[in-house]
Amino acid sequence: MKINNICCIGAGYVGGPTMAVIALKCPDICVTVVDINSKKINQWNDKNLENLPVFEPGLKEIISKTRGINLFFSKDIDKAIIEAQMIFMAVNTPTKKNGKGKGFAADLSFVEKCASHIAKVSKTDKIVVEKSTLPVRTAEKIKNTLFENNNKVKFEVISNPEFLAEGTAIQDLFKSDRVLIGGDPSDSGKNAVNALVKIYEKWIPKNKILTTNVWSSELSKLASNAMLAQRISSINSLSALCEHTGADINEVSLAIGMDSRIGEKFLKPSAGFGGSCFKKDILNLVYLSKFYGLNEVAEYWYQVIKINDYQKDRFAKIIIKSLDGNINGKKISILGWAFKKDTNDSRESPAIGVTCKLIEEGAKIHVYDPKVSPRRIISDLIEFWEEKGESRSEINHKIKKITIEKTCQDSIKDSFAIAIMTEWEVFKEYDWVNIQDNMVEKPMIFDSRNIINEKMIDINKGIFYKLGTPQI
Ligand code: NAD
Ligand code: UGA
Repeated sequence: MKINNICCIGAGYVGGPTMAVIALKCPDICVTVVDINSKKINQWNDKNLENLPVFEPGLKEIISKTRGINLFFSKDIDKAIIEAQMIFMAVNTPTKKNGKGKGFAADLSFVEKCASHIAKVSKTDKIVVEKSTLPVRTAEKIKNTLFENNNKVKFEVISNPEFLAEGTAIQDLFKSDRVLIGGDPSDSGKNAVNALVKIYEKWIPKNKILTTNVWSSELSKLASNAMLAQRISSINSLSALCEHTGADINEVSLAIGMDSRIGEKFLKPSAGFGGSCFKKDILNLVYLSKFYGLNEVAEYWYQVIKINDYQKDRFAKIIIKSLDGNINGKKISILGWAFKKDTNDSRESPAIGVTCKLIEEGAKIHVYDPKVSPRRIISDLIEFWEEKGESRSEINHKIKKITIEKTCQDSIKDSFAIAIMTEWEVFKEYDWVNIQDNMVEKPMIFDSRNIINEKMIDINKGIFYKLGTPQI
Protein backbone atom coordinates (compact mmCIF):
# COMPACT_ATOMS: atom_id res chain seq x y z
CA MET A 1 0.00 0.00 0.00
CA LYS A 2 1.34 3.45 -0.90
CA ILE A 3 0.98 5.74 2.08
CA ASN A 4 0.24 9.39 1.40
CA ASN A 5 -1.51 10.40 4.60
CA ILE A 6 -0.17 9.91 8.11
CA CYS A 7 -1.53 10.96 11.49
CA CYS A 8 0.44 11.03 14.72
CA ILE A 9 -1.37 11.10 18.04
CA GLY A 10 0.79 12.84 20.65
CA ALA A 11 2.66 16.07 19.87
CA GLY A 12 5.39 15.67 22.49
CA TYR A 13 9.15 15.14 22.46
CA VAL A 14 8.76 12.10 20.18
CA GLY A 15 5.70 12.92 18.05
CA GLY A 16 6.82 16.46 17.12
CA PRO A 17 10.42 15.80 16.00
CA THR A 18 9.80 12.37 14.38
CA MET A 19 6.89 13.64 12.30
CA ALA A 20 8.81 16.77 11.32
CA VAL A 21 11.60 14.59 9.94
CA ILE A 22 9.16 12.26 8.11
CA ALA A 23 7.48 15.33 6.56
CA LEU A 24 10.87 16.73 5.51
CA LYS A 25 12.07 13.47 3.97
CA CYS A 26 8.74 12.51 2.37
CA PRO A 27 7.28 15.60 0.69
CA ASP A 28 4.63 13.38 -0.97
CA ILE A 29 3.14 12.42 2.39
CA CYS A 30 0.75 14.66 4.30
CA VAL A 31 1.58 14.43 8.02
CA THR A 32 -0.82 15.65 10.72
CA VAL A 33 0.16 15.69 14.38
CA VAL A 34 -2.68 15.90 16.90
CA ASP A 35 -2.89 16.21 20.67
CA ILE A 36 -5.54 16.55 23.37
CA ASN A 37 -3.44 19.36 24.82
CA SER A 38 -4.64 22.29 22.73
CA LYS A 39 -2.11 24.69 24.28
CA LYS A 40 0.67 22.48 22.93
CA ILE A 41 -0.86 22.50 19.44
CA ASN A 42 -1.01 26.32 19.60
CA GLN A 43 2.66 26.39 20.55
CA TRP A 44 3.55 24.11 17.61
CA ASN A 45 1.65 26.52 15.35
CA ASP A 46 3.18 29.67 16.86
CA LYS A 47 4.64 31.99 14.23
CA ASN A 48 7.61 32.62 16.48
CA LEU A 49 9.66 29.41 16.27
CA GLU A 50 11.28 30.20 19.62
CA ASN A 51 7.93 29.29 21.21
CA LEU A 52 7.77 25.67 20.03
CA PRO A 53 6.99 23.39 23.00
CA VAL A 54 10.06 21.26 22.35
CA PHE A 55 13.56 22.66 22.13
CA GLU A 56 15.86 20.53 19.95
CA PRO A 57 18.83 21.78 17.94
CA GLY A 58 17.81 21.80 14.25
CA LEU A 59 14.08 21.35 14.90
CA LYS A 60 12.87 24.87 14.19
CA GLU A 61 14.67 24.90 10.84
CA ILE A 62 12.74 21.77 9.78
CA ILE A 63 9.46 23.15 11.07
CA SER A 64 9.98 26.32 9.06
CA LYS A 65 10.45 24.26 5.90
CA THR A 66 7.53 21.87 6.36
CA ARG A 67 4.82 23.42 8.52
CA GLY A 68 1.76 24.37 6.51
CA ILE A 69 3.14 22.53 3.47
CA ASN A 70 2.94 18.83 4.33
CA LEU A 71 3.23 19.03 8.13
CA PHE A 72 0.22 20.14 10.17
CA PHE A 73 -0.44 20.44 13.90
CA SER A 74 -4.13 20.13 14.62
CA LYS A 75 -6.70 19.90 17.43
CA ASP A 76 -9.15 18.04 15.17
CA ILE A 77 -8.19 14.50 16.14
CA ASP A 78 -11.22 12.82 14.49
CA LYS A 79 -10.53 14.37 11.10
CA ALA A 80 -6.84 13.45 11.19
CA ILE A 81 -7.66 9.82 12.07
CA ILE A 82 -10.37 9.52 9.42
CA GLU A 83 -8.09 10.81 6.66
CA ALA A 84 -4.97 8.82 7.60
CA GLN A 85 -3.94 5.42 6.27
CA MET A 86 -1.26 5.06 8.93
CA ILE A 87 -1.59 6.26 12.54
CA PHE A 88 1.35 6.58 14.92
CA MET A 89 0.65 6.48 18.64
CA ALA A 90 3.30 8.62 20.36
CA VAL A 91 1.48 9.26 23.61
CA ASN A 92 3.06 9.18 27.06
CA THR A 93 3.42 5.92 29.00
CA PRO A 94 4.42 6.99 32.53
CA THR A 95 4.80 4.71 35.55
CA LYS A 96 1.43 3.82 37.12
CA LYS A 97 0.62 5.92 40.18
CA ASN A 98 -2.35 3.82 41.34
CA GLY A 99 -3.83 0.35 41.09
CA LYS A 100 -2.20 -2.95 40.16
CA GLY A 101 1.52 -2.56 39.45
CA LYS A 102 1.58 0.92 41.08
CA GLY A 103 5.10 2.39 41.09
CA PHE A 104 6.41 -0.10 38.51
CA ALA A 105 4.10 -0.99 35.62
CA ALA A 106 3.54 1.35 32.68
CA ASP A 107 0.32 3.32 32.75
CA LEU A 108 -1.24 2.33 29.46
CA SER A 109 -4.40 4.39 29.89
CA PHE A 110 -3.26 7.01 27.35
CA VAL A 111 -2.50 4.30 24.79
CA GLU A 112 -5.82 2.57 25.50
CA LYS A 113 -7.75 5.85 25.09
CA CYS A 114 -5.90 6.50 21.90
CA ALA A 115 -6.76 3.03 20.53
CA SER A 116 -10.46 3.33 21.35
CA HIS A 117 -10.54 6.80 19.79
CA ILE A 118 -9.00 5.42 16.58
CA ALA A 119 -11.52 2.56 16.53
CA LYS A 120 -14.53 4.78 17.17
CA VAL A 121 -13.92 7.22 14.33
CA SER A 122 -12.24 5.04 11.67
CA LYS A 123 -14.20 4.34 8.51
CA THR A 124 -11.43 2.73 6.44
CA ASP A 125 -8.67 0.18 7.17
CA LYS A 126 -5.71 1.52 9.16
CA ILE A 127 -2.16 0.61 10.01
CA VAL A 128 -1.66 1.48 13.68
CA VAL A 129 1.97 2.02 14.68
CA GLU A 130 3.16 1.74 18.29
CA LYS A 131 5.69 4.57 18.61
CA SER A 132 5.42 4.90 22.39
CA THR A 133 7.62 2.65 24.54
CA LEU A 134 5.39 -0.21 25.64
CA PRO A 135 5.64 -3.40 27.67
CA VAL A 136 6.07 -6.55 25.63
CA ARG A 137 2.71 -7.95 24.39
CA THR A 138 0.90 -4.58 24.37
CA ALA A 139 0.08 -4.98 20.67
CA GLU A 140 -2.26 -7.79 21.68
CA LYS A 141 -4.16 -5.47 24.03
CA ILE A 142 -4.33 -2.73 21.42
CA LYS A 143 -5.68 -5.14 18.81
CA ASN A 144 -8.41 -6.26 21.22
CA THR A 145 -9.38 -2.67 22.05
CA LEU A 146 -9.53 -1.76 18.37
CA PHE A 147 -11.64 -4.81 17.51
CA GLU A 148 -14.00 -4.41 20.49
CA ASN A 149 -14.79 -0.84 19.44
CA ASN A 150 -14.98 -1.36 15.70
CA ASN A 151 -15.25 -4.68 13.89
CA LYS A 152 -16.08 -3.17 10.52
CA VAL A 153 -12.65 -1.95 9.48
CA LYS A 154 -9.38 -3.88 9.55
CA PHE A 155 -6.57 -2.68 11.82
CA GLU A 156 -3.01 -3.93 11.53
CA VAL A 157 -0.90 -3.15 14.62
CA ILE A 158 2.87 -2.87 14.17
CA SER A 159 5.64 -1.80 16.53
CA ASN A 160 8.17 0.89 15.64
CA PRO A 161 9.85 2.02 18.87
CA GLU A 162 11.75 5.29 18.88
CA PHE A 163 15.43 5.39 19.86
CA LEU A 164 16.11 9.13 19.63
CA ALA A 165 17.71 10.85 22.59
CA GLU A 166 16.64 14.35 23.56
CA GLY A 167 19.10 17.09 22.69
CA THR A 168 20.28 15.11 19.65
CA ALA A 169 16.83 14.07 18.35
CA ILE A 170 17.17 15.49 14.84
CA GLN A 171 20.65 14.11 14.33
CA ASP A 172 19.46 10.72 15.69
CA LEU A 173 16.46 10.71 13.36
CA PHE A 174 18.54 11.64 10.32
CA LYS A 175 21.18 9.00 11.00
CA SER A 176 19.57 6.30 13.10
CA ASP A 177 21.81 3.41 14.18
CA ARG A 178 18.82 1.28 13.32
CA VAL A 179 15.10 1.55 12.68
CA LEU A 180 13.18 -1.30 14.25
CA ILE A 181 9.83 -2.47 12.89
CA GLY A 182 7.99 -5.43 14.36
CA GLY A 183 4.93 -6.98 12.74
CA ASP A 184 2.67 -9.97 12.56
CA PRO A 185 3.92 -12.83 10.33
CA SER A 186 0.60 -12.87 8.38
CA ASP A 187 0.41 -11.40 4.84
CA SER A 188 -1.42 -8.31 6.05
CA GLY A 189 1.15 -7.94 8.84
CA LYS A 190 4.00 -8.13 6.32
CA ASN A 191 2.27 -5.59 4.06
CA ALA A 192 1.92 -3.16 6.94
CA VAL A 193 5.60 -3.54 7.88
CA ASN A 194 6.61 -3.02 4.24
CA ALA A 195 4.53 0.14 3.99
CA LEU A 196 6.51 1.61 6.89
CA VAL A 197 9.85 0.30 5.57
CA LYS A 198 9.13 2.19 2.32
CA ILE A 199 8.80 5.44 4.27
CA TYR A 200 12.07 5.04 6.20
CA GLU A 201 13.91 3.90 3.06
CA LYS A 202 13.64 7.48 1.82
CA TRP A 203 16.62 8.37 4.04
CA ILE A 204 17.72 5.35 6.10
CA PRO A 205 19.98 2.76 4.40
CA LYS A 206 18.17 -0.54 3.94
CA ASN A 207 20.67 -2.51 6.05
CA LYS A 208 19.79 -0.34 9.03
CA ILE A 209 16.09 -1.15 8.89
CA LEU A 210 15.54 -4.20 11.03
CA THR A 211 12.25 -6.09 10.82
CA THR A 212 11.30 -8.54 13.57
CA ASN A 213 8.25 -10.04 15.20
CA VAL A 214 6.14 -7.62 17.27
CA TRP A 215 7.21 -8.96 20.67
CA SER A 216 10.95 -8.72 19.92
CA SER A 217 10.45 -5.16 18.78
CA GLU A 218 8.51 -4.15 21.91
CA LEU A 219 10.99 -5.83 24.26
CA SER A 220 14.09 -4.54 22.43
CA LYS A 221 13.10 -0.97 23.23
CA LEU A 222 12.80 -1.59 26.98
CA ALA A 223 15.96 -3.69 26.92
CA SER A 224 17.99 -1.03 25.05
CA ASN A 225 17.11 1.62 27.60
CA ALA A 226 17.84 -0.76 30.47
CA MET A 227 21.29 -1.61 29.06
CA LEU A 228 22.14 2.08 28.55
CA ALA A 229 20.99 3.06 32.03
CA GLN A 230 22.90 0.12 33.51
CA ARG A 231 26.15 1.52 32.09
CA ILE A 232 25.58 4.85 33.80
CA SER A 233 24.76 3.22 37.12
CA SER A 234 27.89 1.07 36.76
CA ILE A 235 30.17 4.05 36.13
CA ASN A 236 28.43 6.10 38.84
CA SER A 237 28.90 3.33 41.42
CA LEU A 238 32.61 3.34 40.53
CA SER A 239 32.78 7.14 40.90
CA ALA A 240 32.12 6.67 44.62
CA LEU A 241 34.91 4.12 44.86
CA CYS A 242 37.28 6.48 43.04
CA GLU A 243 36.73 9.21 45.61
CA HIS A 244 37.80 6.82 48.36
CA THR A 245 40.87 5.46 46.64
CA GLY A 246 42.50 8.33 44.75
CA ALA A 247 41.56 6.86 41.37
CA ASP A 248 40.07 9.29 38.84
CA ILE A 249 36.76 8.24 37.26
CA ASN A 250 37.61 10.04 34.01
CA GLU A 251 40.79 8.02 33.64
CA VAL A 252 38.98 4.84 34.64
CA SER A 253 36.21 5.57 32.13
CA LEU A 254 38.76 6.21 29.39
CA ALA A 255 40.62 3.01 30.18
CA ILE A 256 37.48 0.87 30.29
CA GLY A 257 36.03 2.46 27.16
CA MET A 258 39.14 1.77 25.06
CA ASP A 259 38.23 -1.91 25.12
CA SER A 260 36.23 -1.96 21.91
CA ARG A 261 34.00 -4.70 23.34
CA ILE A 262 32.85 -2.14 25.92
CA GLY A 263 33.26 1.08 23.92
CA GLU A 264 33.65 4.68 25.02
CA LYS A 265 30.05 5.89 24.85
CA PHE A 266 27.74 6.22 27.84
CA LEU A 267 30.49 6.05 30.43
CA LYS A 268 30.35 9.63 31.69
CA PRO A 269 29.76 9.93 35.43
CA SER A 270 26.96 12.18 36.66
CA ALA A 271 24.82 12.85 39.70
CA GLY A 272 22.54 10.16 38.24
CA PHE A 273 20.68 9.67 34.99
CA GLY A 274 17.51 11.65 34.39
CA GLY A 275 14.97 11.93 31.60
CA SER A 276 11.48 10.65 31.17
CA CYS A 277 12.34 7.14 30.07
CA PHE A 278 15.19 5.27 31.77
CA LYS A 279 13.60 5.06 35.21
CA LYS A 280 10.09 4.28 34.02
CA ASP A 281 11.26 1.73 31.46
CA ILE A 282 13.47 -0.14 33.94
CA LEU A 283 10.68 -0.14 36.53
CA ASN A 284 8.46 -1.59 33.83
CA LEU A 285 11.05 -4.27 33.07
CA VAL A 286 11.21 -5.08 36.79
CA TYR A 287 7.43 -5.39 36.85
CA LEU A 288 7.33 -7.61 33.78
CA SER A 289 10.06 -9.87 35.20
CA LYS A 290 8.13 -10.23 38.47
CA PHE A 291 4.91 -10.88 36.55
CA TYR A 292 6.57 -13.86 34.88
CA GLY A 293 7.94 -15.06 38.25
CA LEU A 294 11.54 -14.08 37.44
CA ASN A 295 12.38 -12.49 40.78
CA GLU A 296 16.17 -12.59 40.39
CA VAL A 297 15.89 -10.85 37.02
CA ALA A 298 13.66 -8.20 38.60
CA GLU A 299 16.12 -7.67 41.48
CA TYR A 300 19.03 -7.34 39.07
CA TRP A 301 17.43 -4.51 37.10
CA TYR A 302 16.07 -2.83 40.23
CA GLN A 303 19.65 -2.32 41.42
CA VAL A 304 20.23 0.02 38.44
CA ILE A 305 17.54 2.33 39.82
CA LYS A 306 18.80 2.01 43.39
CA ILE A 307 22.33 3.07 42.41
CA ASN A 308 20.83 6.02 40.57
CA ASP A 309 18.97 7.17 43.68
CA TYR A 310 22.10 6.58 45.76
CA GLN A 311 24.16 8.76 43.42
CA LYS A 312 21.77 11.73 43.64
CA ASP A 313 21.63 11.45 47.40
CA ARG A 314 25.41 11.05 47.64
CA PHE A 315 25.98 14.23 45.63
CA ALA A 316 23.64 16.29 47.83
CA LYS A 317 25.28 14.89 50.99
CA ILE A 318 28.75 15.86 49.71
CA ILE A 319 27.59 19.47 49.32
CA ILE A 320 26.11 19.50 52.82
CA LYS A 321 29.18 17.88 54.41
CA SER A 322 31.54 20.30 52.65
CA LEU A 323 29.66 23.23 54.16
CA ASP A 324 30.38 21.87 57.66
CA GLY A 325 27.16 19.91 57.75
CA ASN A 326 25.14 23.09 58.09
CA ILE A 327 23.50 24.77 55.13
CA ASN A 328 20.66 26.38 57.05
CA GLY A 329 19.93 29.82 55.55
CA LYS A 330 22.89 29.57 53.16
CA LYS A 331 22.51 30.51 49.52
CA ILE A 332 23.32 27.70 47.09
CA SER A 333 23.30 28.16 43.33
CA ILE A 334 22.02 25.38 41.08
CA LEU A 335 23.31 25.70 37.53
CA GLY A 336 21.28 23.69 35.03
CA TRP A 337 17.86 22.16 35.57
CA ALA A 338 17.43 20.17 32.32
CA PHE A 339 18.26 16.47 32.65
CA LYS A 340 20.96 16.96 30.00
CA LYS A 341 22.17 19.75 27.74
CA ASP A 342 20.34 20.95 24.61
CA THR A 343 16.84 20.17 25.82
CA ASN A 344 14.14 22.10 27.70
CA ASP A 345 13.00 18.82 29.29
CA SER A 346 13.57 18.34 33.01
CA ARG A 347 11.62 15.16 33.68
CA GLU A 348 13.42 13.10 36.37
CA SER A 349 16.36 15.51 36.25
CA PRO A 350 18.88 14.80 39.05
CA ALA A 351 18.72 18.55 39.81
CA ILE A 352 15.22 18.02 41.26
CA GLY A 353 16.19 15.48 43.93
CA VAL A 354 19.42 17.28 44.83
CA THR A 355 17.61 20.63 45.18
CA CYS A 356 14.85 19.15 47.32
CA LYS A 357 17.36 17.63 49.71
CA LEU A 358 19.22 20.94 50.02
CA ILE A 359 15.98 22.84 50.64
CA GLU A 360 14.94 20.30 53.25
CA GLU A 361 18.23 21.04 55.06
CA GLY A 362 17.35 24.75 55.09
CA ALA A 363 19.34 26.12 52.12
CA LYS A 364 18.14 29.01 49.98
CA ILE A 365 18.32 27.86 46.38
CA HIS A 366 18.87 30.05 43.31
CA VAL A 367 18.44 28.20 40.01
CA TYR A 368 19.58 29.16 36.54
CA ASP A 369 18.93 27.15 33.38
CA PRO A 370 19.21 28.55 29.84
CA LYS A 371 16.13 26.71 28.48
CA VAL A 372 13.87 25.31 31.20
CA SER A 373 11.03 27.71 32.09
CA PRO A 374 10.59 28.95 35.70
CA ARG A 375 7.08 27.48 35.68
CA ARG A 376 8.44 24.07 34.85
CA ILE A 377 11.06 24.24 37.62
CA ILE A 378 8.45 25.09 40.24
CA SER A 379 6.06 22.39 39.03
CA ASP A 380 8.87 19.78 39.12
CA LEU A 381 9.47 20.58 42.78
CA ILE A 382 5.78 20.62 43.68
CA GLU A 383 5.29 17.26 41.96
CA PHE A 384 8.32 15.78 43.77
CA TRP A 385 7.00 16.81 47.20
CA GLU A 386 3.42 15.85 46.37
CA GLU A 387 4.63 12.36 45.48
CA LYS A 388 6.30 12.20 48.88
CA GLY A 389 2.89 12.93 50.40
CA GLU A 390 3.71 16.41 51.71
CA SER A 391 0.91 18.83 52.54
CA ARG A 392 0.10 21.94 50.53
CA SER A 393 1.27 24.23 53.36
CA GLU A 394 4.57 22.37 53.75
CA ILE A 395 5.14 22.64 50.00
CA ASN A 396 4.29 26.37 49.96
CA HIS A 397 6.74 26.95 52.79
CA LYS A 398 9.55 25.16 50.92
CA ILE A 399 8.82 26.82 47.58
CA LYS A 400 9.55 30.19 49.22
CA LYS A 401 13.17 29.09 49.55
CA ILE A 402 13.67 28.91 45.83
CA THR A 403 14.41 31.73 43.40
CA ILE A 404 14.61 31.24 39.65
CA GLU A 405 17.21 33.56 38.13
CA LYS A 406 17.40 34.99 34.62
CA THR A 407 21.18 34.94 34.48
CA CYS A 408 23.96 32.75 35.75
CA GLN A 409 25.60 35.77 37.42
CA ASP A 410 22.48 36.47 39.52
CA SER A 411 22.33 32.85 40.52
CA ILE A 412 25.90 32.58 41.75
CA LYS A 413 26.20 36.04 43.35
CA ASP A 414 26.94 35.76 47.09
CA SER A 415 26.39 32.04 47.18
CA PHE A 416 28.16 29.64 49.51
CA ALA A 417 28.14 26.86 46.97
CA ILE A 418 27.57 26.38 43.25
CA ALA A 419 26.33 23.01 41.98
CA ILE A 420 26.71 22.39 38.23
CA MET A 421 23.92 19.95 37.39
CA THR A 422 23.66 20.14 33.57
CA GLU A 423 26.56 20.08 31.11
CA TRP A 424 25.37 23.15 29.14
CA GLU A 425 28.13 24.41 26.82
CA VAL A 426 27.91 27.92 28.31
CA PHE A 427 28.97 26.58 31.69
CA LYS A 428 32.07 25.06 30.13
CA GLU A 429 33.09 28.44 28.76
CA TYR A 430 33.12 30.29 32.08
CA ASP A 431 36.42 31.03 33.75
CA TRP A 432 35.50 29.45 37.04
CA VAL A 433 38.73 30.33 38.84
CA ASN A 434 38.20 33.98 38.03
CA ILE A 435 34.56 33.85 39.02
CA GLN A 436 35.44 32.30 42.36
CA ASP A 437 38.27 34.76 42.84
CA ASN A 438 36.09 37.81 42.32
CA MET A 439 33.57 36.82 44.93
CA VAL A 440 33.77 37.96 48.52
CA GLU A 441 32.73 34.64 50.02
CA LYS A 442 34.60 32.09 47.90
CA PRO A 443 31.85 29.65 46.97
CA MET A 444 32.71 25.98 46.72
CA ILE A 445 31.99 24.60 43.26
CA PHE A 446 30.51 21.14 42.90
CA ASP A 447 30.83 19.89 39.35
CA SER A 448 28.57 16.86 38.84
CA ARG A 449 29.37 16.70 35.11
CA ASN A 450 33.15 17.10 35.20
CA ILE A 451 32.95 19.97 32.75
CA ILE A 452 35.37 22.33 34.47
CA ASN A 453 38.57 22.20 32.56
CA GLU A 454 41.35 20.88 34.80
CA LYS A 455 43.67 23.65 33.62
CA MET A 456 41.31 26.34 34.85
CA ILE A 457 41.54 25.04 38.38
CA ASP A 458 44.03 26.77 40.56
CA ILE A 459 44.66 24.47 43.48
CA ASN A 460 45.60 27.36 45.74
CA LYS A 461 42.38 29.20 45.17
CA GLY A 462 38.97 28.05 46.26
CA ILE A 463 37.62 24.57 46.38
CA PHE A 464 36.31 22.51 43.50
CA TYR A 465 34.64 19.16 43.75
CA LYS A 466 34.67 17.11 40.58
CA LEU A 467 32.62 13.97 40.83
CA GLY A 468 34.64 10.77 41.06
CA THR A 469 38.05 12.43 41.13
CA PRO A 470 40.73 12.72 43.81
CA GLN A 471 39.78 15.77 45.85
CA ILE A 472 42.05 18.83 46.10
P1 NAD B 1 5.27 13.66 25.91
O1 NAD B 1 4.64 13.67 27.23
O2 NAD B 1 6.25 14.72 25.54
O3 NAD B 1 4.14 13.66 24.77
C1 NAD B 1 3.03 12.83 24.77
C2 NAD B 1 1.83 13.63 24.26
O4 NAD B 1 0.71 12.75 24.07
C3 NAD B 1 1.36 14.72 25.22
O5 NAD B 1 1.43 15.97 24.58
C4 NAD B 1 -0.09 14.33 25.54
O6 NAD B 1 -0.95 15.45 25.69
C5 NAD B 1 -0.46 13.50 24.33
N1 NAD B 1 -1.59 12.59 24.56
C6 NAD B 1 -1.78 11.71 25.57
N2 NAD B 1 -2.92 11.02 25.39
C7 NAD B 1 -3.47 11.47 24.25
C8 NAD B 1 -4.64 11.14 23.52
N3 NAD B 1 -5.48 10.19 23.95
N4 NAD B 1 -4.91 11.81 22.38
C9 NAD B 1 -4.08 12.77 21.93
N5 NAD B 1 -2.94 13.12 22.55
C10 NAD B 1 -2.63 12.48 23.70
O7 NAD B 1 5.95 12.22 25.78
P2 NAD B 1 7.22 11.83 24.90
O8 NAD B 1 8.46 12.18 25.63
O9 NAD B 1 7.01 12.32 23.52
O10 NAD B 1 7.11 10.23 24.93
C11 NAD B 1 6.11 9.55 24.22
C12 NAD B 1 6.43 8.07 24.21
O11 NAD B 1 7.66 7.86 23.50
C13 NAD B 1 6.65 7.45 25.59
O12 NAD B 1 6.19 6.13 25.57
C14 NAD B 1 8.17 7.45 25.75
O13 NAD B 1 8.62 6.42 26.60
C15 NAD B 1 8.62 7.19 24.33
N6 NAD B 1 9.95 7.71 24.00
C16 NAD B 1 10.33 8.94 24.44
C17 NAD B 1 11.58 9.45 24.08
C18 NAD B 1 12.05 10.78 24.57
O14 NAD B 1 13.21 11.08 24.37
N7 NAD B 1 11.23 11.61 25.19
C19 NAD B 1 12.41 8.71 23.24
C20 NAD B 1 11.98 7.46 22.80
C21 NAD B 1 10.74 6.98 23.18
C1 UGA C 1 17.45 7.80 26.23
C2 UGA C 1 18.14 6.89 25.21
O1 UGA C 1 19.49 7.33 25.03
C3 UGA C 1 17.41 6.91 23.88
O2 UGA C 1 18.00 6.00 22.98
C4 UGA C 1 15.95 6.54 24.12
O3 UGA C 1 15.22 6.61 22.92
C5 UGA C 1 15.33 7.47 25.14
O4 UGA C 1 16.10 7.41 26.36
C6 UGA C 1 13.93 7.15 25.50
O5 UGA C 1 13.49 6.04 25.36
O6 UGA C 1 13.33 8.09 25.96
P1 UGA C 1 17.38 10.42 26.70
O7 UGA C 1 16.77 10.01 27.99
O8 UGA C 1 16.69 11.44 25.90
O9 UGA C 1 17.54 9.13 25.75
O10 UGA C 1 18.88 10.93 26.94
P2 UGA C 1 20.29 10.20 27.20
O11 UGA C 1 21.30 10.84 26.36
O12 UGA C 1 20.17 8.74 27.12
O13 UGA C 1 20.58 10.60 28.70
C7 UGA C 1 19.82 10.07 29.79
C8 UGA C 1 20.46 10.50 31.11
O14 UGA C 1 21.68 9.81 31.30
C9 UGA C 1 20.81 11.99 31.18
O15 UGA C 1 20.50 12.49 32.44
C10 UGA C 1 22.30 12.03 30.92
O16 UGA C 1 22.93 13.13 31.46
C11 UGA C 1 22.72 10.73 31.60
N1 UGA C 1 24.00 10.21 31.08
C12 UGA C 1 24.11 9.82 29.79
C13 UGA C 1 25.08 10.09 31.95
O17 UGA C 1 24.98 10.42 33.14
N2 UGA C 1 26.26 9.60 31.46
C14 UGA C 1 26.41 9.22 30.16
O18 UGA C 1 27.51 8.79 29.79
C15 UGA C 1 25.31 9.33 29.31
